[in-house]
Order: sequence, then structure tokens, then C-alpha cells
Amino acid sequence: MSHRVAEKISRIVPPGEGIRYRLQQAGVHATIKLSPDDSPFTHLALVEYEIAQSATADLHAYKAIDRAYYCLEGTGTVVVGGKEYNIEAGSLVFCGRGWTVEFRNRFKGTMRLMAGSFPPGPEARHDNIAVDEGTGWVQRPLTAEVRRLLGIMVAPEAADFPVGLRGETFVMAPDEGESYWQASPTDGYVTAKVTPFNSSIYHYSMGTQLLEPGARVREHGHKQLDEVLIAVKGTGTIRVDGVEQPFPLGTVAVVGRYVLHCFANAGSDDFVVAGIANPIGIEGALRETGVPRVPGEARPKNIPRNAETGRLLIEKYGFIIPGGGG
Ligand SMILES: [Fe+2]
Repeated sequence: MSHRVAEKISRIVPPGEGIRYRLQQAGVHATIKLSPDDSPFTHLALVEYEIAQSATADLHAYKAIDRAYYCLEGTGTVVVGGKEYNIEAGSLVFCGRGWTVEFRNRFKGTMRLMAGSFPPGPEARHDNIAVDEGTGWVQRPLTAEVRRLLGIMVAPEAADFPVGLRGETFVMAPDEGESYWQASPTDGYVTAKVTPFNSSIYHYSMGTQLLEPGARVREHGHKQLDEVLIAVKGTGTIRVDGVEQPFPLGTVAVVGRYVLHCFANAGSDDFVVAGIANPIGIEGALRETGVPRVPGEARPKNIPRNAETGRLLIEKYGFIIPGGGG
């Protein structure tokens, strides 16, 4: 019997790369980081929004698509699910289908948001959402007909969307979520943000990993999921399929199944990577192998590397760990 092994696919999108378009609203731009239009990853899309100082971005409601926004830089407010919240760098805003979302920048400078849509939303299909005006791409006016075709609703339309079809909305503070200390050389901790354990989402999961200065994640791969890694704080490096490169804030790295990868803190402050696993499959491993962490507590010294961890990761959770991960 022979087994077909999946083709190894990966992609790195550095800051500033991707089709950028100006929204109709003053002071708001979007840059498409990951789209099925030019990538083999079809399940999700990533778009970075830049909201100028004092500007407001009304990102409307979607009929069939959930969105998650991770604040890379800035402070401000978000109105989602009919409630207003303060947000800052590291906040995560989840906006299920049928709900409007609006961001207001209260920051001296540009607010940057990395938005994931599941499945890919209209904001990630450049020739649907925007027109090349010669001097750059500009969002189409969202007329009633364009909205209908793209599945976008403005507030009065969203108010009529059936309650039973709406997704959930929530906002998580930077240090919120089930959190686990990691053993050396991965000194720091992993925090689960969106998982089947705390939300209605069960076909992908999201979390963050903080690496202290000098810390690194050991090289590994995943047999049963694709991973999207986004550098969200500090300075790091990433190695994907043997090629090492800088991993500055806002970089998106898509690591397909079977592709070996690792990343490290290259700076003198904490380095944080946000990750999306598609499908789920890492959050259970965290619970089983991690040391529970309470936000604010000092890191316990000499966290033991559980001898069982490597075996569990490989045999139960489909990790590939060169050398066995003992
Ligand atoms: Fe990984």
C-alpha cells in the first residue's frame, strides 16, 4: 500500500507586500496579504488595514463570513455586536457573520489591524472589491448592487439579518486566554485565543506565542494542519523549509502541512507570534503538555521538559520533530 504525501507548500509575505487599495472612507487603506487569488491556501484570507490618526473604519457586516482582527499597532475603540470596547496592540476582535464592525483610531499615528476572514472575504479579492485607477487601486463604491453581489451589509441591512444565522462576537485583551509556560529553549508562553474550548469556532484555532529574548521554537512540522504565523510584536527570525529570513512585525508566513519551520527572538525585548491553525489540532497538545500560567506571575524557574511531550506531539498530535523531540 502506498500513501500519497501532500505537496509541501509555504509562502512568506513581508511587511509592505501585497495589493494595497484605498477604501472609500477617508484615511483607511487595505493591503491583501493572503488571498486564494494568488495562493494555494483557499480556506482563509488575510488583509492588513491601516487607519489614519482620528479616522474611522466602518467595515460593515458580511452575510456568510466570519472575521478576526488582531491589533498590531495603535489604540482606539471598536464597536462590534452592538457594544463598544477599548482596544490596543495585542487585542483580538472576533466578528461573526451578520454583525457590523467599526474601528476608531484614537492613537497618535496609524492603527494597524491584521484581519483574517474565514472563508476568504470580499476584502481579499482585489478585482472584486477594487478598481485600478492608474495611480493605485481604489475600493469600488459599495452600491446596493455591489453589496448584494459581494455579501456585504450596511448597518440597516444587518439589523434585518436573521438572529439565528448570526455568528458570535467577542473582544479579547492582549493577555486574555488559556496560557501555558513552555520549557527551554522556548522560554516564554503560549496563549490560546480562539479554540473550540472557548468559542463556537471548531474548524480553525488561533493563539499567540511569546518568546523571551534568546528563546526559540525548535524546528518542527505538522502532518494534519496548515499554520499561518504572523509576527505581531518585537523582532525575530523565521526558518521555513530550511531558508532563514527576518521576521519583522506584520510579516505573514503560511506554512503548509509537512513543511519544517521554526522561529526565534532576535531582539532584546519579547517577541510575539500570532498563529492560526487550520484545521484545529494544537490547542489540545498545549493543554496536555504545558504548565498552566496565570497572567502577571513570574515565570517558574527551570520548567522541566516533560519526557512524554515529544512522544505525545508526534504520535497523538501529528507533529514532525527532527530528532524525535525528546
Ligand atoms: Fe508549527
